[in-house]
Amino acid sequence: MSSEHKKNYIVQPGGFLQGELRVPGDKSISHRSIMLGSLAEGVTEVTGFLEGDDALATLAAFRAMGVNIEGPVDGRVTIHGVGMNGLKEPEDVLDMGNSGTSIRLLSGLLAGQSFNTVLSGDSSLSKRPMGRVTDPLARMGAVIGSNEGKPPLQIQGGNQLYAISYALPMASAQVKSCLLLAGMYAKGKTTVVEPAPTRDHSERMLAGMGYPVEVNGDTVTIEGGGKLTATKIDVPADISSATFFMVGAAISEGSDITLKHVGINPTRIGVINILRLMGADISLSNEGTTGGEPVADIRVRYAPLTGIDIPEDQVPLAIDEFPAIFVAAACAEGRTVLTGAEELRVKESDRIQAMADGLQVLGVDAQSTADGIIIYGGPIGSGEVESHDDHRIAMSFAIAGLQAGGTIQINDCANVATSFPNFVGLANKAGLNMEEIDV
Ligand code: S3P
Repeated sequence: MSSEHKKNYIVQPGGFLQGELRVPGDKSISHRSIMLGSLAEGVTEVTGFLEGDDALATLAAFRAMGVNIEGPVDGRVTIHGVGMNGLKEPEDVLDMGNSGTSIRLLSGLLAGQSFNTVLSGDSSLSKRPMGRVTDPLARMGAVIGSNEGKPPLQIQGGNQLYAISYALPMASAQVKSCLLLAGMYAKGKTTVVEPAPTRDHSERMLAGMGYPVEVNGDTVTIEGGGKLTATKIDVPADISSATFFMVGAAISEGSDITLKHVGINPTRIGVINILRLMGADISLSNEGTTGGEPVADIRVRYAPLTGIDIPEDQVPLAIDEFPAIFVAAACAEGRTVLTGAEELRVKESDRIQAMADGLQVLGVDAQSTADGIIIYGGPIGSGEVESHDDHRIAMSFAIAGLQAGGTIQINDCANVATSFPNFVGLANKAGLNMEEIDV
């Protein structure tokens, strides 16, 4: 996708953010709505679905496996569930594009089917580690071929899976969810133990669709042989997308922005906790629950930020938000230190290096470490930075423009469409001054 239509961002310096916005739907919940809706009995109606390339890759995969899915139209998707054993062998390779969540969750789900599948991805996904899912799946009896632990994955069907008890070697919701999905097809009770809490959207949605899941502290257990019942799923706005505007408002004087109906699941609010520790003025209102997920409007007003040592227990709770948090750190008084975040090196790009390099280009003192970064707040200059085809790196440098001394050019931004279609439109509406150019 990105190589066919290259896009750069040109961001003019200055400005502040104001108004009320609703950012697109939560990516994690959108993926799961398609997966579980497809396996359910009955018709699942989804609203607020993220029409970004990642969630659309999941949708296309289930269509290719015979599921009748209507939409998306204005975030509405209707899924005619086929039941736990109703998927059909796809005619082609399933292309997961840039989406780690699609390939890792689907590998678990597909290991338990009666037919073979092949899962492939773009150049970024093809470099990402899959051993973290294929190793425990093999212990369950799955047979999965890979390219030395990287995609494409060849998943052999027709193997009986057996439950395992597995202590996750890293805090990963994708690995946890993969094993829970495989566990639905396994004989016995599959147990996953987490080293630290990670997003629990799978557990919540499984329970919401009537599949028993036992959560006991750090341990999640699921028994094979159950079934899912169709339901209505209202996908909240994605806190990971809201983050760019939260940080933008936190760093630019005169800002006062409200992000509407954002998911504030406790396993996702590390960014709120971290920005508050830095001194950000963040308030929540209209708190409620939708489809088992807590939501709120998030208001952020400018307040001066101070550098902090980021508590390691917040790392998994803010894992996708660090590129933007690093921009907040660059605008804060003093030093910010992140440790315990080596997982950032295996995201859509090596996010520690990509941000350290780009911040340095912009004149910020940012030093990468093996598992984090050290950033000294100071003036942001201007220059040309690389996004490495990573949506969140691109959007993070875009908001840095609010505090920049000159124009920032950000290269290879087409993948912003994976998680945040119309980012440029919403950003300009909120107060950034940026354009997207085809190159
Ligand atoms: C996700 C889990 C996280 C996150 C990703 C979405 C999910 O990945 O970074 O964007 O939907 O389960 P890891 O499980 O690799 O931490």
